Amino acid sequence: SESSCLSIVVLGASGDLAKKKTFPALFHLFQQGFLQSGEVHIFGYARSKISDEGLRERIRGYLKGASDEHVSEFLQLVTYVSGSYDSGEGFELLNNAISEHETSKNNTAGSSRRLFYLALPPSVYPSVCKMIRSYCMNPSSHAGWTRVIVEKPFGKDLDSAKELSAQLGQLFNEKQLYRIDHYLGKELVQNLLVLRFANRLFLPLWNRDNIDNVQIVFREDIGTEGRGGYFDQYGIIRDIIQNHLLQVFCLVAMEKPVSLKPEHIRDEKVKVLQSVIPIKHDEVVLGQYDGYKDDSTVPDDSNTPTFASLVLRVHNERWDGVPFILKAGKALNSRKAEIRVQFKDSPGDIFKCKTQGRNELVIRLQPSESMYMKLTVKKPGLEMATEQSELDLSYGLRYREVKIPEAYERLILDTIRGDQQHFVRRDELKAAWEIFTPLLHDIDDGKVKSLPYTPGTRGPPEADELSKRMGYMQTYGYVWIPPTLA
Ligand code: BG6
Repeated sequence: SESSCLSIVVLGASGDLAKKKTFPALFHLFQQGFLQSGEVHIFGYARSKISDEGLRERIRGYLKGASDEHVSEFLQLVTYVSGSYDSGEGFELLNNAISEHETSKNNTAGSSRRLFYLALPPSVYPSVCKMIRSYCMNPSSHAGWTRVIVEKPFGKDLDSAKELSAQLGQLFNEKQLYRIDHYLGKELVQNLLVLRFANRLFLPLWNRDNIDNVQIVFREDIGTEGRGGYFDQYGIIRDIIQNHLLQVFCLVAMEKPVSLKPEHIRDEKVKVLQSVIPIKHDEVVLGQYDGYKDDSTVPDDSNTPTFASLVLRVHNERWDGVPFILKAGKALNSRKAEIRVQFKDSPGDIFKCKTQGRNELVIRLQPSESMYMKLTVKKPGLEMATEQSELDLSYGLRYREVKIPEAYERLILDTIRGDQQHFVRRDELKAAWEIFTPLLHDIDDGKVKSLPYTPGTRGPPEADELSKRMGYMQTYGYVWIPPTLA
């Protein structure tokens, strides 16, 4: 039986990720009644020597959309323990604090639920995990649990990722490790399986016979301001494509899982990743925006891409010949993330409307979640003419009363509930690195160069040429106008 006592430990409590994402997510869960004052306690842990109040003041400003009273009530659940990440002392203190809380909650079973959120750079994961393993585990062998949340970057290439996995794997088993990819917590990403497998409309169309090309696109209109030093070590492929876009790709391309059990879903993701054939250099366009190297933490000769467009090809019966274009960029002209599934031309066209555009299913992950299907209709009026229009599902309009939860909020709740469906499994991570490692090494060795582009544009024009070469057809004269709330 599960004890009612839950301890959430945020390691790296005074850092950026904790302040901007982790604590606000915990606060939202608290607001919605998922974290009850009677059973939950939140511990912040970091090196800085600050007091409980000190930590509370640091995070208060990030807890928005609530009354001061509510915020204070939440902050009362948060206390702070200071210590280093590689010595036993601090972790002993932490364990004492957790145990004390458990005793005070009259936790007679002697078991506990302990969730450790590592809001820390991965370089300290091994030592922190070792400390948790040695000092802070749930004391009971038959009830309760200990779970650890970690976040990318998980290594820089296949070898370093394997090494990290091995180090963590010696300390915790897969059931205890939750590798977050926050894209898996987004509403429309979670909708992909339903859309694909619960709709007869899409089932027979979702293959090489009907789909011409697929694009999965991430755009940001800001550069790497303030994190150039970190970013230059990684680049856009490791920062966005190898994880976020690849997870979306899996859900678009994978076969139907045996059931909704997390292991069944993850089995299919691994399979489709293993079916991806090596990326060809002539199907890659890299870019770096002008001004990127002005950052004093970025070396003057950096070849690190801040933009990349590349083609994945899946060698199986469903997808042979269909290009999946994964594209991500910083300092572009807009901020959005979307999936574009473009269908083939209708054969035997009698309307001569081929040049107007194709059927295209667009799934907008953010901002303004929506799905719309571009299609050809008769232009309303006396003439017999055709034009491009759309079937539209805009969430803001259709689900006016619903507040779409934040990704981190959902994923932390999944962790508490023990549901690993939306987390990355060890073999999945390995398969992901296998796809990108050869290309990444070639980029690091300067064998593939980043082309310059002007901030605030679509990126290097060569990327649009690549999409065109892959068969993507722009719909000219068509602009999707997001419906507004009347
Ligand atoms: C992070 C990347 O994982 O995702 C950032 O490190 C990026 O570079 C961010 O800005 C984007 O997340 P979202 O949810 O704003 O699309």
